[in-house]
Amino acid sequence: MSSSVWIDELKKIVGAADLIEDPDRLASFAGDEFSLPTFRQNPLAAVRPHNAEEISRILKLANQHKIPVTPRGGGTGLCGACVPSPEGIVLLFDHLNRVLEVDKENLMVSVEAGVPLHDLYAVIEKDGLFFPPHPGADTAQIGGVIATNAGGSRAVKYGTLRNFLRGAEVVLPQGEILQLGGKLVKNSTGFNLLHLLVGSEGLLGVFTKAVIALLPKPRHTATLIVPYPTIAQAIGTVPEIIRRNLEPLAVEFMEADSIALTEERLHRKWPAKGAQAYLMIIVEASGLAELEALWVTLQELCEKHGAGEIFVAESESQQKDVLDFRSQMYEAMKPLCLEILDIVVPRSAIAAHVEAVHAIERKFGVWLPTYGHAGDGNVHSHIMRVAFKDGKPDFRKQLDWDALYHPIRDALHADARQRGGMVSGEHGIGLAKKEYLSEFVGPGAVTLMRGIKYLLDPNHILNPGKVF
Ligand code: LAC
Ligand code: ZN
Repeated sequence: MSSSVWIDELKKIVGAADLIEDPDRLASFAGDEFSLPTFRQNPLAAVRPHNAEEISRILKLANQHKIPVTPRGGGTGLCGACVPSPEGIVLLFDHLNRVLEVDKENLMVSVEAGVPLHDLYAVIEKDGLFFPPHPGADTAQIGGVIATNAGGSRAVKYGTLRNFLRGAEVVLPQGEILQLGGKLVKNSTGFNLLHLLVGSEGLLGVFTKAVIALLPKPRHTATLIVPYPTIAQAIGTVPEIIRRNLEPLAVEFMEADSIALTEERLHRKWPAKGAQAYLMIIVEASGLAELEALWVTLQELCEKHGAGEIFVAESESQQKDVLDFRSQMYEAMKPLCLEILDIVVPRSAIAAHVEAVHAIERKFGVWLPTYGHAGDGNVHSHIMRVAFKDGKPDFRKQLDWDALYHPIRDALHADARQRGGMVSGEHGIGLAKKEYLSEFVGPGAVTLMRGIKYLLDPNHILNPGKVF
């Protein structure tokens, strides 16, 4: 059937001004931050609904005419999860952009799904409150952050998005609107549907509102930049940090090559020099003396594992600078990279996994710069399209990527599997990692996931073709 029939219906639901059909504008909704253009696809149209009721009507229309619908937040994902179907429509959340309530009694904030993270941080910080999850891109929208169960750098002590979501308004694929959970700390009332939807990558429902738990802003934080002669020593420090219950907000690791590339490409400065590898550790405490005691303990512990002279960022602006540097490293990698991986392994296996990444790098004669969330066992290795020589990308060496790409990626994932790891710690599966899902979770789990999808979405309307 011609799309003109349902396009008119869509226009009636959202209004002419909020239906986008211009191909140039639609091109900006064709993909996410995944590095390869393989996963880009214009939709037929995009709509900007104003509330859950309009989204419900859109989904009912979509079921009637079998139109694929892909919800899109800030488009900052890294596995192609919001790439639309060419015969489908994109749901945008520009009009669902209000912070509805900051509840200081319950330490919770109620927001609409289209609120970008930078707005959420700004609003709650005014009230001295804190939302620990810190996915690198602060233009990410809260609905997308929930739909991917995003994590980021500050997940070691308090966990990922899942650990903060308390309630939500969701539109199911056939248009039913559900209210799940609430301003609750505990809830054992039936199956936990809220958590079934967290991380479902837009396949099981559309988040329209969320209730998110907050913390009082830590009174004092410091960020330690710890240099090491080898990556093995850097990561080798992590199990002891965890075992000693020092409770850092973040423990990140990075190596000299990614730091150099970020400095050069983004014109930023890393506050330390000369080491092969670094840990970046964020600590918090309620008093200054306690904070200092904590960082001195960490200093001693890191030195025992071979660390050199430690740089401590104390002022808010210095700390923001180093966290921004870390958050933007992917920006520096992306133009030269085929794919960023998101492997997660048990924390005790992370050093061995990173060693294996470098062994694979040497075996294939390629460049696989690696950094990540050491405190969570979450490793981002990048399969680069260029080689690396004398501390710089080497654009002259010709690499046969058609032959190399799959064996390298398979070898990296095989190593993760053998260590009890998973294909994704925080980015999700989307389009990019689909082929690995069954290998990691087993065919029985995939069958169950498909069954749940079919139960909620028998017409395969909502973000079809992703995950499995
Ligand atoms: C990071 C993103 C890429 O950790 O997950 O920088
Ligand atoms: Zn990450």
